[in-house]
Amino acid sequence: MATTLAKAAESVEFAARLEHVSKSFAGPGGQQLVLDDISIDVAPGEFVTLLGASGCGKSTLLNLVAGLDRPTAGSIATDGRPALMFQEHALFPWLTAGKNIELALRLRGVPKTDRRAKAEELLGLVRLRGAYGKRVHELSGGMRQRVALARALAQESNLLLMDEPFAALDAITRDVLHDELTRIWAETGVSVLFVTHNVREAVRLAQRVVLLSSRPGRIAREWTVGIPQPRRIEDAPVAELSLEITDVLRGEIRRHGQH
Ligand SMILES: Nc1ncnc2c1ncn2[C@@H]1O[C@H](COP(=O)(O)OP(=O)(O)OP(=O)(O)O)[C@@H](O)[C@H]1O
Ligand SMILES: [Mg+2]
Repeated sequence: MATTLAKAAESVEFAARLEHVSKSFAGPGGQQLVLDDISIDVAPGEFVTLLGASGCGKSTLLNLVAGLDRPTAGSIATDGRPALMFQEHALFPWLTAGKNIELALRLRGVPKTDRRAKAEELLGLVRLRGAYGKRVHELSGGMRQRVALARALAQESNLLLMDEPFAALDAITRDVLHDELTRIWAETGVSVLFVTHNVREAVRLAQRVVLLSSRPGRIAREWTVGIPQPRRIEDAPVAELSLEITDVLRGEIRRHGQH
């Protein structure tokens, strides 16, 4: 009992904790420092966007949190194993939408008899009821990302890591998926660490925006976003804060360009 209580207390402290994380890669001119001294906490249930210019190390950082690679220095802890969602849906094309989700359920150890109902429920959550038997090529880009989201949610992780998951979608579909993600986040209480180079998307979604500088990627600034949800991307407060962040981002890019 004491252990359970201790564990519960421990598990509510953070969904992810990055402490002084650095990452270097071997390059032609020696070691290239990509990420430098990154410390971020994602609280349980928090929605954080990580914003930065292309090549600043966002995907590298997310891969480290996912455990796909190891930091050169510093430490990373997560509350359980995170679920991942990328720009490319990475669904198995030979499986139906439903079977793609069931695969994730099977890996989580959900008994075979329960998988179908659970997959249907998850498809309902992403508003794709009826798509269970559809093959990947029969789905639009937006629908594929919905299935990918359902599959990520099937893992019932406390932390969802998203790497520009809507970047390849048209603006209207992206807008709808922002609404869906915000709703699902509120309904499930999952913590989200969402990577994007789109300032408005970052502000539309997050409770907190963390801006990374480039070469090396360092935390340049953070903003707490107090605008009530659901927001719209064209809301005046969203546009206003986006402008402020864009100015800082431009400054970072200029500063970096002068090196
Ligand atoms: N495995 C690797 N080996 C060597 N260099 C790498 C490796 N992975 C990433 N890099 C380098 O690290 C830097 C950051 O790359 P990363 O993909 O993390 O950027 P990003 O912020 O996600 O960019 P984008 O917005 O374009 O997706 C780049 O200069 C890249 O070339
Ligand atoms: Mg990337």
